Amino acid sequence: MMTRTASSSTTATVVTTPAQLERLGEHLHKLRLQKSAERLEALLQHAAAQELPYADFLEQVLGEEVAAKTAKNVSMRTAMARFPFVKPLETFDFAYQPSIDKRQVLSLAGCQYIEHGDNVIVLGPPGVGKTHLAVSLGLKAIEAGYRVFFTSAAQLIATLSKALADGRLDEKLKFYTTPRLLIIDEIGYLPIDRIGANLFFQLISRRYERGPMILTSNQSFGAWGEVFGDRVIATAILDRLLHHAVTLNIRGNSYRLKEKLKAGLVRSFDDQSQPGGEI
Ligand SMILES: Nc1ncnc2c1ncn2[C@@H]1O[C@H](COP(=O)(O)OP(=O)(O)O)[C@@H](O)[C@H]1O
Ligand SMILES: [Mg+2]
Repeated sequence: MMTRTASSSTTATVVTTPAQLERLGEHLHKLRLQKSAERLEALLQHAAAQELPYADFLEQVLGEEVAAKTAKNVSMRTAMARFPFVKPLETFDFAYQPSIDKRQVLSLAGCQYIEHGDNVIVLGPPGVGKTHLAVSLGLKAIEAGYRVFFTSAAQLIATLSKALADGRLDEKLKFYTTPRLLIIDEIGYLPIDRIGANLFFQLISRRYERGPMILTSNQSFGAWGEVFGDRVIATAILDRLLHHAVTLNIRGNSYRLKEKLKAGLVRSFDDQSQPGGEI
């Protein structure tokens, strides 16, 4: 295989001829092994200097290539997911939000719910970390190799309504059915009209028992009748969503108010929920 043409082991050792290096480079480019093409010369010199066994050298080359390809793939799928921000689960401060069962979230990070086709529904008032958790779980899914797409409920319904008007509803429904995990954020922030509720129902029906979803809402399930402007359709949506679902109910202070709470400028959730805590 490699032959040393220089004997010094202290300085960089020449291990191949320029012609051979060029041929190797061409092979690697043809095989689309870009990282290996970039690193080959350095790795060959390192292997020769360290007198690495052949298998170790090969492991190093292939290991670097796989790591580079994985990182590229993850960042490509992260961009395609259209997250509003990229915050890994490791940045979530569980101590600030004791109503969240950390072990439950860490278990969801293992992505088994995706394999089972289960939904995750995150409920809670504004600022408690619903979007953050949805994004973080989405990132875990991407790391595990799944395709993820993030949208707000308002965006989703606007897109589907436009597709309906353009006679391309089926195509758009397919678009939202394709990603293995669909995240629908902010159900309940904006009222949904009858057509919107119907389109939402169609999408939920398509993904039902096939594609898992993460949904977030600031409204309890009981209030979804008002959110969708129709109790019957809200019940039909919830019936499908909750058939196989894990619900995280966050009760606590907005993280956005963290600094203000510290400074005593606003009252905490605990103060408000204590009897006599109302002003
Ligand atoms: N427990 C937490 N640890 C770290 N950052 C948090 C936490 N909860 C919320 N945040 C941050 O506070 C901001 C508001 O959270 P967000 O997830 O958008 O809230 P929600 O979707 O519930 O309204 C975001 O920047 C988010 O990253
Ligand atoms: Mg949010």
